[in-house]
Amino acid sequence: MSIEIPEGLTELLQSFTVEVLRNQPGDLLEFALQYFTQLRESESKEAALGNDQNSANRTGKAVNFVEEAMQIDSENGEDDDDEDDEEFVAPVINRFVRRTSVCAEAFNPDDDEEEDKEPRITHPKSDEQRRRLQEACKDILLFKNLDPEQMSQVLDAMFEKQVEAGEHVIDQDDDGDNFYVIERGTFDIFLKVDGAERNVGCYDNRGSFGELALMYNTPRAATIVATSPGALWCLDRLTFRRIIVKNNAEKRKTYEAFIETLPLLTSLEPSERMKVVDVLSSKIYSHGEQIIAQGDLADSFYIVESGEVRITMKRNKKDTESVAMEIAMCSRGQYFGELALVTNKPRAASAFAVGDVKCLVMDIQAFERLLGPCMNIMKRNIANYEEQLVALFGSSIDTMHETA
Ligand code: CMP
Ligand code: CMP
Repeated sequence: MSIEIPEGLTELLQSFTVEVLRNQPGDLLEFALQYFTQLRESESKEAALGNDQNSANRTGKAVNFVEEAMQIDSENGEDDDDEDDEEFVAPVINRFVRRTSVCAEAFNPDDDEEEDKEPRITHPKSDEQRRRLQEACKDILLFKNLDPEQMSQVLDAMFEKQVEAGEHVIDQDDDGDNFYVIERGTFDIFLKVDGAERNVGCYDNRGSFGELALMYNTPRAATIVATSPGALWCLDRLTFRRIIVKNNAEKRKTYEAFIETLPLLTSLEPSERMKVVDVLSSKIYSHGEQIIAQGDLADSFYIVESGEVRITMKRNKKDTESVAMEIAMCSRGQYFGELALVTNKPRAASAFAVGDVKCLVMDIQAFERLLGPCMNIMKRNIANYEEQLVALFGSSIDTMHETA
C-alpha cells in the first residue's frame, strides 16, 4: 500500500522546523500552537490584503514584505491580486520558500517581469537629506552603472535608519529585506565558521552591504554589527531587484565573454565568474588621471577593460625630490591594485591612465569574498614584483612600504 504525502506537508513541517531551530522555544507545544495560529491568521490576512496594517504577528527579524506591499498599495490605492505572489504570503512561509528556492545562478530578467509591474516606492526627503544621501551613494559601485533615471528611482526609494553601537543590522541566515549604504559609523562583519562566529572584516564610515541575499535570493551570508552609533540609507528588496539586479543581468551579457578570457579568473567556476561580474562596476579615466596614489589606503581592485595604465613608483614617497619611475604598463585584461589588499598595506605604487581608460573596479569585501581561489596566481605575480623592484631600486616591496 502506498501512502500519499499531502501536498505542502513537507514544506509546512520544514518551515516549522526552521522556526523552531531559530527561536529555540522552551515550550515546543505552545510555540507550535502560536506558529500555526499565526500562519492561519496570515493566510486570512493575505486574502484580505490591503485592509489590514497590523504586522504584530510577524516573527523576529522576518522580512516585512507584507508590510511593504501594504504600504505601497495604500499609497497607490491599487489592487495587487496579480502581483508577485511570493511577496504576499505569510512571512513564516515566505522565509522558507525563498530559502529553498535559492537562485545563486544567472538572474533572468524575463522571469522577473512581474517585479517591473510593482509600483514605485518613494520616501520623501528634505533637500538636506537628499544631499547627504547623494554624498553617501556617490562611490557605491553597485550604483555606478545605473542610468540617471534608474539612479533617481533608487534615491527616491531609499530611507534613513539610525543605528546604535552593538545593534545587529543583519544576522547571518536571515532573509534579505534591505540593501544598506553607510552614511556614517563603523560595522563589523562576522561569518559563522564551524559553528563559531569569526570577525572577517569591517566597514569604516563608507561602503555598502546586504546586496547578496537580494541579488541571489539566498539567506544572509554574514552578520553585520554596528560598532559605533551610525546612520544607514536602506533600499528595499523590491526596488533593489527591479533596478540593480536587472541592471546586473545586462552587465552579465556585456562582460560575460571578456571575463571568460581573464587568466586571473581561470581558477573560478563559471558561476563564480558571473558573481565577479555582478560586483564589478566600470569606471572611466581620461589621459593622465591618477587612478591610485602610492601610500594611500586601499579599498578597490582594478581590471583594465580598455586603454593602458602606467604604474609608477617613487623610491621614497616622503622625498619630494625623488622622481617616480615607470615600473609596469597594464593593458586590456590585466589587473592592478591587488597588492595592498593582499598585504593589508598602503598602495605600493601609483597608477595613471594613458589615453582614455576604462577599468572594472571591485571593492575590497568582494575581492576577499570572491577572489580567494585566484590567490595563487596573484602571489606568483607579486613574487615577480619583488624581483623587478630589486632590479630597479635594490629594495624589496616590504622596504618600499616602509619608506612610502
Ligand atoms: P548579504 O548576504 O545580503 O548580508 C550580509 C552581507 O555582508 C552580505 O550580503 C555582504 O554584503 C556583506 N559581506 C561582507 N563581507 C562578506 C563576506 N566575507 N561574506 C559574505 N558576506 C559579506
Ligand atoms: P597596490 O599596491 O594595491 O597598488 C599599486 C599597484 O601597482 C600594486 O598594487 C600592483 O598591482 C601594481 N604593481 C605593478 N608592478 C608592481 C611592482 N613591481 N611593485 C609593486 N606594485 C606593482
